[in-house]
Amino acid sequence: MSDSGDRDLTLRGLIHDLNNVFQTILDAADLLAQDEKWASLAGNIERTAERGHRLTQSISEAAGSTFRLQVIVEIAMQFARDYLYATQHHPIEFQSEVPANLRIRGNPVSWERILVNLLLNSAQAMPTGGWVKLTAEAHDSSATIRLEDNGPGIPREILARVFEAHFSTKPANSGMGLHIVRSLVELDNGTVSVVNREEGGAAFVIEARC
Ligand SMILES: Nc1ncnc2c1ncn2[C@@H]1O[C@H](COP(=O)(O)OP(=O)(O)OP(=O)(O)O)[C@@H](O)[C@H]1O
Ligand SMILES: [Mg+2]
Repeated sequence: MSDSGDRDLTLRGLIHDLNNVFQTILDAADLLAQDEKWASLAGNIERTAERGHRLTQSISEAAGSTFRLQVIVEIAMQFARDYLYATQHHPIEFQSEVPANLRIRGNPVSWERILVNLLLNSAQAMPTGGWVKLTAEAHDSSATIRLEDNGPGIPREILARVFEAHFSTKPANSGMGLHIVRSLVELDNGTVSVVNREEGGAAFVIEARC
């Protein structure tokens, strides 16, 4: 089994056993509730154990599930449009070509953040407008997501540094965007890299698990 397969199994095992713990606490609280003296405390314990159950459920949904990439791309692009409108940025043409049935393994909220960071970077590199194109292609157990723009591209001398924390060429920014992007992609067992397109403009290439 692959490393990530081992990790999935370990995580699912932990979630399973944590649910046993919460179930035991719930059952014990039920017993406690039979004594009137402890009824109020039993209610408190029960609600807390149920909360634990819900939280572990959300871990398992985030860890083991897949989502439709096309849906998340649309949400990210709409947010980027709203952001540009609100900040009075020149409009950018966002295009996407994503197979309707392509599913990615991971946390959809993380992937929305990954895409929004990349889309806003492209837009910020093109203050007078331009386009960003996102394409995705499925392989056996992975997918390649390419996000290209027709901005100035990334100067050769900083190409190796853009994923570093706090690296920025913008006076008012923190330089955390691409560092967060890389961390989130890797958390879902993917990789991300950047190249400049021959025609000009930057191209971010993500290999994601599906
Ligand atoms: N599409 C792009 N075209 C040109 N340069 C880019 C592009 N994306 C990133 N860069 C360069 O990489 C640097 C690092 O990007 P990163 O997203 O990490 O930080 P930032 O955008 O400067 O700040 P933050 O994301 O924290 O607001 C940018 O400052 C910019 O110089
Ligand atoms: Mg950024």
